[in-house]
Amino acid sequence: DLTERLKKTVVLVGMMGAGKTAVGTALARLLRVPFRDSDEEIVKAAQRSIAEIFERDGEPFFRARESEVLARLVRGEPCVLSTGGGAFLSEKNREIVAQAGVSVWLRVDIDLLWQRVRHKTTRPLLRTPNPRATLQSLYEARVPFYALADLVVDSAPDISVEAMAQRVLET
Ligand code: S3P
Repeated sequence: DLTERLKKTVVLVGMMGAGKTAVGTALARLLRVPFRDSDEEIVKAAQRSIAEIFERDGEPFFRARESEVLARLVRGEPCVLSTGGGAFLSEKNREIVAQAGVSVWLRVDIDLLWQRVRHKTTRPLLRTPNPRATLQSLYEARVPFYALADLVVDSAPDISVEAMAQRVLET
């Protein structure tokens, strides 16, 4: 329920293209709490883009920074926190999130995810010869982890960002 949730940080998890940043921004406005984005914090601290961090420092470096950022943000004042699509795979990260947050999986089916990410070039994990197949296999491998979230909210092709945020509140 809303008042209970305001005491905790709402942590959005799910695939790239699920709308964590967009829905999170709208949800934070509804809840009147700050919006934070773990990718954005990593970029700020490293002074380079996610793609550059993957390229120059490697994914393990990125994951280590991601855990640090999550731990720091979850300890702070309650907020809406959007995480990178890989964040909830790590048991350590799930524990960090559980300490002070309510995790919400924004569940979006693979066809819709693909429609949303296909024209974007910012995601290093999709820079493969067959990004559609890569997205599909990431999706299949990750669903069991996302399913560990406290709440699940389903998206739909025609639902607005604001309506999705409203759905999260009502879940
Ligand atoms: C990743 C998703 C990205 C970003 C990085 C890795 C992933 O975040 O953290 O490229 O492993 O799925 P978004 O989910 O915001 O695209």
